[in-house]
Amino acid sequence: MELNVVILAAGQGTRMRSDLPKVLHTLGGFSLLSHVVKTATRINAQCTCVVYGHAGDQVLKTGLPVVWVEQAEQLGTGHAVAQALPFLPETGTVLVLYGDVPLIQPETLQALLAKQSLTPSLVLLTVVLPDPKGYGRILRNAERQVIGIVEEKDATPEQRAICEVNTGILAANKTDLTRWIQKINNRNSQKEYYLTDIVGFAVAEGIPVHAVHPETISEVLGVNSRAQLAELERVHQSRQAQVLMSQGVTLRDPARLDVRGTVQTGKDVEIDIDVILEGQVQIADRVKIGPYCYLKDVTLSEGVEIRAHSVLEGVTIGASSTVGPFSRLRPGTELGPHVRVGNFVEIKKSQVGEGSKVNHLSYIGDAQIGSDVNVGAGTITCNYDGANKHLTQIGDRAFVGSNTALVAPVEIGSGATIGAGSVITGKAPPEELTLSRAPQKTYQGWKRPVKKGKLGENF
Ligand code: UD1
Ligand code: CA
Repeated sequence: MELNVVILAAGQGTRMRSDLPKVLHTLGGFSLLSHVVKTATRINAQCTCVVYGHAGDQVLKTGLPVVWVEQAEQLGTGHAVAQALPFLPETGTVLVLYGDVPLIQPETLQALLAKQSLTPSLVLLTVVLPDPKGYGRILRNAERQVIGIVEEKDATPEQRAICEVNTGILAANKTDLTRWIQKINNRNSQKEYYLTDIVGFAVAEGIPVHAVHPETISEVLGVNSRAQLAELERVHQSRQAQVLMSQGVTLRDPARLDVRGTVQTGKDVEIDIDVILEGQVQIADRVKIGPYCYLKDVTLSEGVEIRAHSVLEGVTIGASSTVGPFSRLRPGTELGPHVRVGNFVEIKKSQVGEGSKVNHLSYIGDAQIGSDVNVGAGTITCNYDGANKHLTQIGDRAFVGSNTALVAPVEIGSGATIGAGSVITGKAPPEELTLSRAPQKTYQGWKRPVKKGKLGENF
């Protein structure tokens, strides 16, 4: 049976107090809306239609692969679905999702759709909540069959005492849904076209109405405020942590890892506390990530170790290399295998070859460093002349003494040695010692000045 999805996302989200439309706020690095769209893809929706309203230009800019339908005025959920129906294929099942209910799981939706496909029916996703306040209540008859949904604002005190609520998620045949939606009016306390009224129409036609439940309540929680957004972020992060652990990752504390993007991991990876992984992160087998690290868009090969307090963005690291503690690797950094980058080292847009070391207090920018190079403490590439950036090239096995300034463009030959404290402005030939250093002098008999004081006093 063909499946088409309608995602309702036209509501304003006033309680977010934001210029950003609610569905563009992020959870785990992706917008609320994109979570729902991704879920629709995972259940093989042929056509996914998003009903948007507020800040349409911003919503459209997401470029999500959906059919966009504008609901200029938010006249209710029934009206919203009505806007989408003309854009859907004639037949098949229609599943209604909410753009601000991001954690709904494919398994739950599949169970709902399986129920719907047995016989032509209307299937609702409902939950029993200890505090049902604000939700539409599920009305059942003496045989426990669903006979209607009443919105809280229209409910009697007895109906308000019902704890089974409507999550809003439902599925029906396109033809049935179209017929029912045409009958909805707005004669209710909110003067809205309630999608929930279709339950009464189905019952009147003798079409079965079923209710299925999600596995966990968090799946159907909506985001209406920043506090709820934060709450769902924790749920989402905890789920991601569970997935990583199930794939063979040791998390020292699953509550202290945040994934804001997508992570691929190998086996026997260890991640210490308070680590943030952002964007596209690839982690091979036996990688260790120390505490308090921020890694964005990085690829770490087998056995790489990132030590505490390191910040990496846009970086590729070869097998068995070690970075940190306190290293900062910026976009375009490529470290080969067995490289060692130590504390207070910043590297930007540079390649560092196999076995090379930049161990302490350096800035390396726009450089190509060969293999087995030793870059001494405090070495700086002076890559910027105030107008343009220039390249520093260092050949294999070169040894750059501590506190060297490499004024780019500059080339250090393979096997060259640069004396400590040099300012290198020209080519340093291979296999030779090059240094630029004022000669050392000793002034024999020189006396240190002493502080002037009152006569007789010894300061
Ligand atoms: C709706 C249900 C209620 C259910 C609750 C679950 C109706 C009449 N009521 O309540 O039974 O318990 O959801 O959260 O359906 N939207 C539009 N266009 C509109 C109105 C809403 O796109 O004109 C979207 C909103 O952006 C949101 C969703 O529909 O994503 C639900 O709207 P909201 O106002 O939050 O729900 P209620 O109508 O209060
Ligand atoms: Ca409403």
